[in-house]
Amino acid sequence: MAEVKSGHIVNVMKEERLFPPPKAFSERARIRSMEDYQKLWDEAAADPGKFWGDMAKELHWFKPFDKALEWNMPFAKWFVGGLTNVSYNCLDAHLNTPRANKAAIIWEGEPGDTVVLTYRMLHREVCKFANCLKSLGVNKGDRVSIYMPMVPELAIAMLACTRIGAIHSIVFGGFSAEAIADRNQDAQAKVQITANGGWRRGKELPLKGIVDEALEKSPSIQKCIVLKRTRTECSMKEGRDVWWHDLMAKASPDCPAEPMDAEAPLFILYTSGSTGKPKGVRHTTAGYNLFAKKTFEWVFDNREDDVFWCTADIGWITGHSYIVYGPLSAGATSLIFEGAPNWPDEGRFWEIIEKYRVNVFYTAPTAIRAFIKWGDEWVDKHDISSLRLLGTVGEGINPEAWMWYHKKIGAERCPIVDTWWQTETGGIMMTPLPGATPTKPGSCCKPLPGIVPEVVGEDGKPVPTGSGGWLTITQPWPGMLRGIWGDDERYKAQYWSDVPGKYLCGDNARCDEDGYYWIMGRIDDVLNVSGHRLSTIEIESALVSHDAVAEAAAVGRPDDMTGEAVCAFVTLTSGTEPTDALKKELKAHVGKEIGKFAAPADIRFTSALPKTRSGKIMRRLLRDIAAGRESAGDTSTLEDFSVLARLRSDDE
Ligand code: PRX
Repeated sequence: MAEVKSGHIVNVMKEERLFPPPKAFSERARIRSMEDYQKLWDEAAADPGKFWGDMAKELHWFKPFDKALEWNMPFAKWFVGGLTNVSYNCLDAHLNTPRANKAAIIWEGEPGDTVVLTYRMLHREVCKFANCLKSLGVNKGDRVSIYMPMVPELAIAMLACTRIGAIHSIVFGGFSAEAIADRNQDAQAKVQITANGGWRRGKELPLKGIVDEALEKSPSIQKCIVLKRTRTECSMKEGRDVWWHDLMAKASPDCPAEPMDAEAPLFILYTSGSTGKPKGVRHTTAGYNLFAKKTFEWVFDNREDDVFWCTADIGWITGHSYIVYGPLSAGATSLIFEGAPNWPDEGRFWEIIEKYRVNVFYTAPTAIRAFIKWGDEWVDKHDISSLRLLGTVGEGINPEAWMWYHKKIGAERCPIVDTWWQTETGGIMMTPLPGATPTKPGSCCKPLPGIVPEVVGEDGKPVPTGSGGWLTITQPWPGMLRGIWGDDERYKAQYWSDVPGKYLCGDNARCDEDGYYWIMGRIDDVLNVSGHRLSTIEIESALVSHDAVAEAAAVGRPDDMTGEAVCAFVTLTSGTEPTDALKKELKAHVGKEIGKFAAPADIRFTSALPKTRSGKIMRRLLRDIAAGRESAGDTSTLEDFSVLARLRSDDE
């Protein structure tokens, strides 16, 4: 355990295991050794403009750029003066190559229906839909709001927007009417795209009904395009609503891609800040495109015949970058699945991997913990031997879940890339490279070439090796957000003010003696118990390392004696009895794993944890419950309200 240093976060996690990349994997990889990696990283750090400028030649340029980087902190411009088009780079660029008739998208619907679109077919659909948008008056720079299930038409709609220079704002299909309206209003969106319904665990979600409600409070929306996905009846408002299929029936497949300024906005994606209304994170054309492409190629080491499956929803940044823009600009085959992992049974993901012979599988730790809870028998029913590489994203992965993923899914043969990044960063920032980096379970390992992190204290100065602090990024990178839609001041205040001159990402991290990074949770998830600062992820890892624990969330609550005390919410593995003796045992276990000061004061057993639709545990709600407060916060993204009710009634 690390020494306590005042002002710095105490590091209490010690992970000694090291997993070198399998030799057979490295031999065929793009980046084959740490020497190769280091060489690239050094080159990029020394001259980011030259490094990315050279890489950018891989994109198609209608007009070459004059200058790779213009950096007026905190405003970056990449590939200044260049004209390109993201839809062109994702589609047209492959048409005169052997990839033209390769599957771009393999899609499986929740009921089991399948669509395969080759690059040529996808190009045709995108051109047609781009003409549909034009016919409704959508121009360059207009905002298009998208609220759709995970269907191929969602990718078609995105690429059609980018083809004509319209800016999409995708609102995840689980958001409420209120949330859609807020975002439409903030973006001043002109057109809405939706579907009559979507499938979720065998039920039909009435998406259009939700949109109808949202559009009552979205005065900027002039037209609404409706895809028919389910049998759900829906109303169509005369003069405003049009069916997707009616528009497409008349559309021409000829629509040249619009040459777009490298810095033209590409999309807005709303994300929650710690307080206040959601921020419209603004990404632009060429820099984002290049970053999504290169990170996809480096991290997933894509091979020409790979089937790549990212299980995220396209409504989140992970889906934007690693279902659509990264894979398609790299000419890969991207699998899209509409449904849930446990419908019609808990083996659905493994069934899909077997059916399509998926090679690279990218998912979230929360899903991995669910798989562990559901049991190995679901995995054992399927042949998943096509897998060669595994990834995780979205939150820290506790070493126990990492080991299960490594053994049970990866058969100790597949490298695991634990990728750290954010909506704001546009693409992966820190990760192992699968053919080069020896991995440590629970660490996102090293920064990618072009990414220069620094862990600093509250005074903005670097902390000593091994100490925790604020994670900052010290150089601009092409995929970085360019601002918050309509609010440059908030952009400056949120990311560039507390540590002047550096991007403050909002996470705590530490860098160990080998230069490996360990994310220690959000800055606002840091607990202070008797003067010890602790990261919740570490307490959770300790709990989950106990055989009885399936999932755990640790939060702080006020305590007269210790300032804050740790309250842990724990779900147990199936068949385990929630007894007082077990509570004691778990407290002792955390005491043993970390130190007595970190042992939770309270342990509460619960059948499930409240999560957002994207699978993040809603700590703010748990903090309120732990403190016995009524929750005042926004619950619009809560996956299952009944979980909250159950947690409260567990109290009584
Ligand atoms: O706290 C970090 C956590 O997720 C945050 C970003 O969330 P979002 O913008 O929704 O993007 C998620 C998908 C990129 C980060 O600030 N996070 C993401 N990946 C990891 C992670 N924490 C630890 N390890 C990761 N690999």
